Amino acid sequence: MDDWTTLGYLAAAVLFILGLKRLSRPRTAVRGNQLGAAGMLIAVVVTLTDNAILSFEWIAGGLILGAAVGALLAVRVRMTAMPELVALFNGFGGGASVLVAAASYIEAVDLATDSSRLSAAAALASLIGALTFTGSLIAFGKLQETLRWSGFGGMRIVSGAGAGAAVVFGILMVVDAGNVLWVWLLVAVGALLGILVVSPIGGADMPVVIALLNSLSGMAAVAAGFVLDNSLLIIAGSLVGASGLILTQIMCVAMNRSLLAVMFSPAPSGAGGPSADDVYAGKVRSTSADDVAMLLESAERVAIVPGYGLAVAQAQHAVRDLARRLEDRGTEVVFGIHPVAGRMPGHMNVLLAEAEISYEKLVGMDDINPTFEQTDVTIVLGANDVVNPIARTDPSSPIAGMPILDVDRSGVVVVIKRSLSPGFAGIPNPLFAAENSLMLFGDGREAVVDINKSLQQI
Ligand code: TAP
Repeated sequence: MDDWTTLGYLAAAVLFILGLKRLSRPRTAVRGNQLGAAGMLIAVVVTLTDNAILSFEWIAGGLILGAAVGALLAVRVRMTAMPELVALFNGFGGGASVLVAAASYIEAVDLATDSSRLSAAAALASLIGALTFTGSLIAFGKLQETLRWSGFGGMRIVSGAGAGAAVVFGILMVVDAGNVLWVWLLVAVGALLGILVVSPIGGADMPVVIALLNSLSGMAAVAAGFVLDNSLLIIAGSLVGASGLILTQIMCVAMNRSLLAVMFSPAPSGAGGPSADDVYAGKVRSTSADDVAMLLESAERVAIVPGYGLAVAQAQHAVRDLARRLEDRGTEVVFGIHPVAGRMPGHMNVLLAEAEISYEKLVGMDDINPTFEQTDVTIVLGANDVVNPIARTDPSSPIAGMPILDVDRSGVVVVIKRSLSPGFAGIPNPLFAAENSLMLFGDGREAVVDINKSLQQI
């Protein structure tokens, strides 16, 4: 690697680190994104001008194809499908690492330039990359709610045997160098492990697994970086791996679950819990936008708790208008943000920031929970699992033990959603039948617009 390449890679690495730092605050996030993109541009240009590359035809073909698919996906994807897209991107990252590592290893074997170091790195990249690829595809299906398969009896034994086989094939890649059969077997076992490990995970544990797959895609890139002897890939992969691990830890704390518990003792399925009829029959009270406006009119403090339905309804602009109208009348308005509300980390923060709702108004779970008792009206907008009190009481529920937003402790709770359908965890929610709850049935955006109109007339 010549001095210019090293210098270029150093500049790119610095930009990645500065970009990540700025991404940690909403106010500096856009600049952080730009810095990261600039770093990536430098990385690509420096790599392409490195004299190790002799032909650009395949690269140009790949660039055109990749850019076309990426642009099409970006334009066509619904905002609510972003989490699935992110899961797919994690998977493609892992898949790319497998292809790069396996191809480099096979080439090195052909040219007899392989070494123990290269074989060990290729083994790690192949295993982690293949696991990330298939694991992410399973996560994609689960996020789309089209895949409900959670495995078969004795699956843990098969997984254990698979993990053992992976270790053996990895060692054989190093000690029986020159036999490319081992890399194919390792890729196959890694792919199988991805399916076996992620399939039983579901319900409230999904946020943890998404963050973990994100981290694994970075670790696969690190190993591929060692195969290629490319320092920038090692640094960039480490940044993704480390930030993914930090996110995994944050998600574990948010769900009150350890990573080991998520991986090896999946949350209960919820079968056997109370049925929707038991929970709701004769107890649900519905309301109208006019009545909610009257309630809000006399409230001194209002909390708005958004969930996945906010994303589906694209209600963030309407809710901003409602908050402003209330504030103009002297009402204190805060937004309660659960760490796993929505379908991806920071989902609510992104949507509310898009509507230019001041970040100071977004209050985290630990800070807002003690204040619900002093809150006159809480509007639950398209949230369900993150406000489900069953998490506190039913140990057989898929969200048992998950800290929730204690909205049921406020004076009145207005729940805006289209029906009594369950949320992601698939269980009924006793909040909807609580004595202090009122259901405003309808699309989130339309309901908030209607409340706003009614308030205007008061
Ligand atoms: P959910 O529990 O999934 O509930 C969302 C609710 O929104 C549904 O009950 C739905 O009811 C309502 N809704 C849908 N479209 C709507 C619309 N147009 N207008 C109004 N309401 C609408 O959401 P949550 O409370 O945000 O909880 C998140 C769940 O997802 C948790 O279980 C979490 O573990 C899981 N999860 C999170 C992540 C991350 S990283 N955040 C990743 C994977 C899974 P109706 O159909 O009756 O309207």
